[in-house]
Amino acid sequence: MKKNKRIVFAASECQPFFTSGGLGEVVGSLPKRIIELTNKEYQVDVYLPFYAKINKNYSSIIKFVDSIEVNLSWRRQYCGIFNCQLDGVNYYFIDNEYYFKRDNFYGYFDDAERFAFFSKAVIEVMLKLKRVPNIIHCHDWQTGMIPVYLRTHYYYKNEFKSLKRIFTIHNIEYQGIYSQQNNFIEDVFGIDRNDTYLLEFNNNLNIMKGAIETSNIVSTVSPSYAEEITTAEYAHGLESIILKAKQEGKLCGILNGIDYDFYNPLTDKELVKNYDVNSIDAKKECKKALLEEIGFKETDAPLIGMVTRLVAHKGLEILKNAAEELLKNDIRMVILGTGDPYYEDYFKNLETKYPDKIKTILAFNQGLARRIYSGCDMFLMPSASEPCGLSQMIASRYGTIPMVRETGGLKDSIHDFKNENGNGYSFKGMEPNKLVEMVKTAIKDYQDRDWNNKIIKVMNVDFSWNNSCKDYLAMYNSILNKK
Ligand code: GLC
Repeated sequence: MKKNKRIVFAASECQPFFTSGGLGEVVGSLPKRIIELTNKEYQVDVYLPFYAKINKNYSSIIKFVDSIEVNLSWRRQYCGIFNCQLDGVNYYFIDNEYYFKRDNFYGYFDDAERFAFFSKAVIEVMLKLKRVPNIIHCHDWQTGMIPVYLRTHYYYKNEFKSLKRIFTIHNIEYQGIYSQQNNFIEDVFGIDRNDTYLLEFNNNLNIMKGAIETSNIVSTVSPSYAEEITTAEYAHGLESIILKAKQEGKLCGILNGIDYDFYNPLTDKELVKNYDVNSIDAKKECKKALLEEIGFKETDAPLIGMVTRLVAHKGLEILKNAAEELLKNDIRMVILGTGDPYYEDYFKNLETKYPDKIKTILAFNQGLARRIYSGCDMFLMPSASEPCGLSQMIASRYGTIPMVRETGGLKDSIHDFKNENGNGYSFKGMEPNKLVEMVKTAIKDYQDRDWNNKIIKVMNVDFSWNNSCKDYLAMYNSILNKK
């Protein structure tokens, strides 16, 4: 009998409990695939903050387990431990109302302290529950203090002697940078003066930098992004640290997958009509219903969708400069998302100017998002940078043809129809006219009878976790076999 191995995932978001985007989707879907694919040889525990904002549908299954005290520098903080099981995954919630009973996940003056507390608590709870894993897999800067603390505070503990540390970067733009004034690292994090160098970067405290330095493997969510972040253009100042990780042989990129049970046009209750690759005609009804829902008249013109955070790295500058040119064509566009007020205003104003052509819906609405994925003809992602991107995969699953800028995970997942393995449209560079050209090609193809074949081709690409989960397992196995 093979001995079971345990992995702990630590993250600040996780479907179906709470999420604001891709991170939560990945953390919510990869663990169960790991368990399934390894036939339970790997067990996965997922540690999360117990936010007040948790999806109430799950409140009743989450049970109190125990409580401990966690020291953060000179502070002693209460830490409640809650647990539930879903699809074979064990979820542990770290409770502290002072830190997590707030309206939002992030955006507070004391975020560094909140997530340092969370990180320390994860380690203490693993010890308390005697569930120290073989691997701890941390996601994004909010959990970056875990490998740092393991190195500085717990290195001597027998329980952790063979524990391997993996840190995954979902977006290098958010690093957890704070001022190191008043010796913050020592005073709030309780890190010894001799170790503060681990977290210091450009005279600030940089949690992601500390995590990279203290992890055995640093991964990111696509192979192309792993290359890109070794350069100043993409690394938001961290290129030297990433390059060093690469030279040490500890950097890799694994493309995300999506949850094929959750994103399934055949069973999705949000759609007016369900379908699969053998019944794509139903997409027409989805389109008709969507047009009505968002306030367009019925039309055969191609409908282009976007579901996105309205922030610069999503390529909104390129889109902005291309938008009026695009709208000269007989198309309809729908944009769903929230974000930077500058872009919210811009796209709202565009709707006022072209009410028959474009709708901008400033909301986070997962139901409407799926009706856009299914009801549109094409899905646009002109991202300036994109670590992986899930929307292009979801759109493909629903038979909506992706149109992307060639960067990061978009480049790794979508190839222009010009190529033999084509499964969408793509453009290079930052010039708005390149985007316009790409869309025009798609509009032209849309008039063709071959369009249905394109839909089928796109739906047949496998973006489930099947492939990527195997890559994660190979990574886990390789690191466990290393001395
Ligand atoms: C972040 C990235 C996105 C990626 C997601 C999940 O949100 O911006 O590209 O798909 O994380 O890894």
